[in-house]
Amino acid sequence: MGNWKMHGGLEANAKLLADLRAGAGILADYCTLAVCAPFPYLAQVSSLLDGSAVSWGAQDVSAHEKGAYTGEVSASMLNDFACAWVLVGHSERRAMHAETDELVADKAKAALAAGLTPVVCVGETLQEQDAGQTLEVIQRQLDPVLALGAEAVSRLVVAYEPVWAIGTGRSATPAQAQDVHAAIRARLAAVNAAQVRVLYGGSVKADNAASLFAMPDIDGALVGGASLVADEFLRIAAA
Ligand code: PGA
Repeated sequence: MGNWKMHGGLEANAKLLADLRAGAGILADYCTLAVCAPFPYLAQVSSLLDGSAVSWGAQDVSAHEKGAYTGEVSASMLNDFACAWVLVGHSERRAMHAETDELVADKAKAALAAGLTPVVCVGETLQEQDAGQTLEVIQRQLDPVLALGAEAVSRLVVAYEPVWAIGTGRSATPAQAQDVHAAIRARLAAVNAAQVRVLYGGSVKADNAASLFAMPDIDGALVGGASLVADEFLRIAAA
């Protein structure tokens, strides 16, 4: 799954989407491919990817259904553009928009209610990792989401993205990521949702994707920078 973040433009997107569309065909027999685009481009993405092997989604959603929430975008609006996915609780939103664990769970709930699949992002900062708090932080972030109940949890995706690995070129090692993924899997299993897909994110590139995907509890990747280059993104999917 690609996370374009605040990148793109009509012209650049058209080329990227055409390249993804052309390259995705055979890969889609083996994995799910998706891109999460900025809101203004969802119409373009839906029209250029319609009928292709690549699905799409947004990078955030309001916890509210509708109303006086200037600047927010509801899950039903995302449905109007046939989004399948929506990221919730990306670390950039937690850090720069003060999103709490509870708000992230509310967003996941709103997405599920509209039939979208929320991709719940969790991950510790470098400071937290250094203090040995990784699993504690992940558990705190997941708890309100797991409290949504087994049925809800079985319909979402979790993305583990250590904040220190995002956009830094310094990915977690496969073993480091696997340890955290195994802990997440155990938490999911405790609510009968062990089959939920757990993606790793943080400096995933074509070069390190295969070693990450070889880990038993890493089911896929949430890819930032490398998702803006079609060939790189498709090579990650091929891995
Ligand atoms: P990155 O970003 O792949 O550029 O590190 C990942 C993400 O933030 O989703």
